[in-house]
Amino acid sequence: MRLRALPQSLSCLVYATLALTESLSLDALYSFSGPSLSDPTTFSLPQAQQLFVSIAICSTEATSPTFFVTNNSDTTAVTESTSSSDVFQIPLQSGFGYWTGTAPQGAFLTVQNIGQTSFQVAVSNGCMYPDQVVLYSILILPAALVHELLPSLPLLGDTTNTQALIYSYPFSPVDSSPSIYPNYTLPPANLSAPSLPSEPPAFSLFIAPTSSGLTSGPQTACAIQSASTSVSVLTNDSWLRGNEGWRSQWLIGGLTPSTNYTAYVVQDQVKLSGPIYFSTKSPSFSCPLVHSLPYCPSTSYAVPLPFPQSPATFYDSSTLPQSISDPLLQYMTNFTAMLLTFPCGRDLYSPLQTCESCQEAYRNWLCSVSFPRCAEPPSSSSSPSSPTPALTAPQSGLNARNPNLPNVSYSYQTVLPCLEVCNAADRACPNFLGIKCPNPRFNAASSYGVGYIDSSTQGVFGGGSTGTAQDRWGNVWCNPS
Ligand SMILES: *[C@@H]1O[C@H](CO)[C@@H](O)[C@H](O)[C@H]1NC(C)=O
Ligand SMILES: *[C@@H]1O[C@H](CO)[C@@H](O)[C@H](O)[C@H]1NC(C)=O
Ligand SMILES: *[C@@H]1O[C@H](CO)[C@@H](O)[C@H](O)[C@H]1NC(C)=O
Ligand SMILES: *[C@@H]1O[C@H](CO)[C@@H](O)[C@H](O)[C@H]1NC(C)=O
Ligand SMILES: *[C@@H]1O[C@H](CO)[C@@H](O)[C@H](O)[C@H]1NC(C)=O
Ligand SMILES: *[C@@H]1O[C@H](CO)[C@@H](O)[C@H](O)[C@H]1NC(C)=O
Ligand SMILES: *[C@@H]1O[C@H](CO)[C@@H](O)[C@H](O)[C@H]1NC(C)=O
Repeated sequence: MRLRALPQSLSCLVYATLALTESLSLDALYSFSGPSLSDPTTFSLPQAQQLFVSIAICSTEATSPTFFVTNNSDTTAVTESTSSSDVFQIPLQSGFGYWTGTAPQGAFLTVQNIGQTSFQVAVSNGCMYPDQVVLYSILILPAALVHELLPSLPLLGDTTNTQALIYSYPFSPVDSSPSIYPNYTLPPANLSAPSLPSEPPAFSLFIAPTSSGLTSGPQTACAIQSASTSVSVLTNDSWLRGNEGWRSQWLIGGLTPSTNYTAYVVQDQVKLSGPIYFSTKSPSFSCPLVHSLPYCPSTSYAVPLPFPQSPATFYDSSTLPQSISDPLLQYMTNFTAMLLTFPCGRDLYSPLQTCESCQEAYRNWLCSVSFPRCAEPPSSSSSPSSPTPALTAPQSGLNARNPNLPNVSYSYQTVLPCLEVCNAADRACPNFLGIKCPNPRFNAASSYGVGYIDSSTQGVFGGGSTGTAQDRWGNVWCNPS
């Protein structure tokens, strides 16, 4: 991105107001509202080898302010109009803009045409890499306080008719040190998460019905926050869903059935991630959400179970019946014991896979077949070019796949596990364990979602047609976990 130098006449205007400056400090967040500022207003900025100024518009107004930075602090020289090459306009896109450059003598920020607009300014000398400064994906030190539109998106777990389970993007990957032969150990069936990183980022979740037009206003954290609906947070904590790392997890209640919602996650008040979209299910949808199971860390969706005992409105490891968790843990324990009859860590059965990756892929498969995922057919008006999800016919009563699930009194449909979940276990595990996945040419589509993710799967539904199990628009074609 190039910053335009300011025409000569404007630069005079900029410096005419220098007498009235307020100084802004590094790594502080400033919020201003139009009526409280004179127009134009100039702020002085601190010296820095590398100065980073970011702007976020927080309100939607008819007028749009303009922002100018100069890093030429020699004000006398400038009023003599010797140079306008050190004056830059900060271009705003969707209410967000930034400037970076050297400011060994400090700098000034001038705002014009403020009107009623409220906005935020953050100034940082956070280390960053100018070559990689691209709008919408600015690489800076995580500690630097600057407005950003993050490229990583939040993740939808699932919805019911009134609840939604939503995750932030992952923030702290877990590196496990592999164990060593002959003392090769694998994680227990009931996993225990490592301790949470000491200073997790502060995330907040913002939601509004899609009809409220959250995405057409400024795409900045402060604008999203003020335009979002207040929601009832039933639980929020940090959860390790998988290797990709910890995520903040929110279970939201009190939503309106059959409604499209837009969601954003804000990190540290200034960094915006999103939007993602999701729809709540129709009023008759009866499957409760299941999440936060240490032994099935990525299970986070609606499962055909009886409604939990009041006051609970969803299941987690403390409320899920033992008649479901015990057999699952036993399968996992027995499988692990069988796997460990292989000299793990001494002999290789694959150049790419280890006993640990086998156990992990098996766990993922076991969880996805043990907990069927309830779903509804997409609303008829959704895009006709999009493939239809791998949904079963409506069923009720006994679940054929997991006889340990209690019968339910309502009718439901499930979305099948992605065939890739089975293939991953097949690929990751030694042959002697006898993991067999159905062939996509024959019967696979009766028990798995075939051909959505992997283009090498010669599936009935067209190889790799979506390339993914779910997308940011709330479509889910097969159950990825
Ligand atoms: C102002 O910033 C620009 C862009 O980084 C730089 O080329 C110029 O040398 C800077 N001027 C001063 C006085 O530091
Ligand atoms: C095997 O490893 C575990 C943890 O990795 C350790 O606690 C245990 O002491 C080790 N046992 C032997 C015999 O080295
Ligand atoms: C799994 O371990 C957690 C502690 O890490 C414990 O609270 C929970 O009861 C265990 N679950 C089962 C089903 O054993
Ligand atoms: C949960 O939300 C509350 C209020 O929004 C917040 O104070 C708290 O820190 C959050 N807890 C976690 C673990 O994120
Ligand atoms: C696990 O192994 C035990 C002992 O071999 C056996 O009694 C049990 O039936 C097995 N459980 C499952 C679910 O396979
Ligand atoms: C929700 O969004 C989908 C797809 O974007 C659209 O077809 C549908 O009409 C919307 N539903 C409502 C209730 O607005
Ligand atoms: C569940 O329903 C099936 C038939 O739909 C029945 O055979 C079975 O006994 C029921 N199980 C329980 C625990 O009620």
